[in-house]
Amino acid sequence: MTASLLRPPAQLNSPPHCNPWPLLWPDQRLLLERQHDRLEQQLTTLLQWHHPEGTAWSPEEAAACDHASQLLLRNLKLHLRLEERWLDKWGCLRHGHRLAHRHASETTLEGLLRCGRDRDRRLAWLEALRTWFVAHRDGPDARAYSLAHAASQRASFLPEPAGSQGLCRRPGAR
Ligand SMILES: [Fe+2]
Ligand SMILES: [Fe+2]
Repeated sequence: MTASLLRPPAQLNSPPHCNPWPLLWPDQRLLLERQHDRLEQQLTTLLQWHHPEGTAWSPEEAAACDHASQLLLRNLKLHLRLEERWLDKWGCLRHGHRLAHRHASETTLEGLLRCGRDRDRRLAWLEALRTWFVAHRDGPDARAYSLAHAASQRASFLPEPAGSQGLCRRPGAR
């Protein structure tokens, strides 16, 4: 592990006051996809750190791995919460999708705690998490995002109600 890898991964988002949350689906999707990319990047970095043929970790490197793993989980949780909020706003959050998020949040945290600092177990945990994440991104997320795209297209054709400030409206909202 090189010294540069000891730097903690960047936070997933800037604070809301620096980067106001977007209101339109195309901007929301862009941010969510950016989060997907960064989560995948964090997973790849962690998998490299845990490579079975890598050198033994110093105490500082082991602590950096712990920190990066916890940060990965925190960022994943933030992403899942934001994605749920926006998909729900567009009427595209299915019950099964929400359940998959909840299950992933619970099992990934339990898995990390069970691994402790065992490098081989942590590697298996990371591989399982990456498998889930990629399948979830290509499956339920991709389907829900295309429904949200269609819903946002429909909403853009609805007339603005009197006194509205031109915000996106949830389909079916009066
Ligand atoms: Fe996602
Ligand atoms: Fe999702």
